[in-house]
Amino acid sequence: MEIQIRNCSEEDLIQVTEIENVSFDDPYPYRLFFTFLSDLPRGFRVATADTTQLIGYCILSHSNQRGALMISSIAVHPTFRKHGVGFKLLEDAIRIARELSALIAVERIALQVAEGNTAAQSLYVKFGFRPVRKIRNYYGRDKNGIQMELVLTEG
Ligand SMILES: CC(C)(COP(=O)(O)OP(=O)(O)OC[C@H]1O[C@@H](n2cnc3c(N)ncnc32)[C@H](O)[C@@H]1OP(=O)(O)O)[C@@H](O)C(=O)NCCC(=O)NCCS
Repeated sequence: MEIQIRNCSEEDLIQVTEIENVSFDDPYPYRLFFTFLSDLPRGFRVATADTTQLIGYCILSHSNQRGALMISSIAVHPTFRKHGVGFKLLEDAIRIARELSALIAVERIALQVAEGNTAAQSLYVKFGFRPVRKIRNYYGRDKNGIQMELVLTEG
């Protein structure tokens, strides 16, 4: 399987929403993806493998936390997981964040992940993300989140 990563277009957003819906209990709505695409088009990337069908996406967005960009969402269609797609998407997002850090005042990438989501946490740790704080009830009652960050100036 040869994985390709490219910019998301408005026409891709239906497929992005479909991947989102099969990946999360409380999925983002279409209109939010539209907003992410409008706000930082360069940060919204999609993955394909040999066909035009999308198999994953990753959204790097602006953050209200000073000096930070966010990974607002990353997901791979369940059929295509554990084949290195998530790894490639995150690697690509970090590369773009480093490029942006030369142009705008950002020095780190932040993200929130559910406490029990060990698959995603393991992926983030591979790239040097570190847990910085626990966010109680972030995903609803008794569903804590963890904020993880990668400092772009390191490594
Ligand atoms: C997290 C996610 C994006 C990973 O995508 P993926 O394409 O399956 O990941 P990869 O095949 O590139 O794996 C890269 C690394 O991630 C970690 N990982 C991925 N799936 C894992 C699993 N089921 N259990 C433990 N670690 C896992 C491993 O460290 C893996 O490295 P390894 O293959 O050397 O063990 C995918 O599981 C997903 O879409 N999950 C649902 C959405 C989600 O939770 N997104 C994150 C929100 S914060």
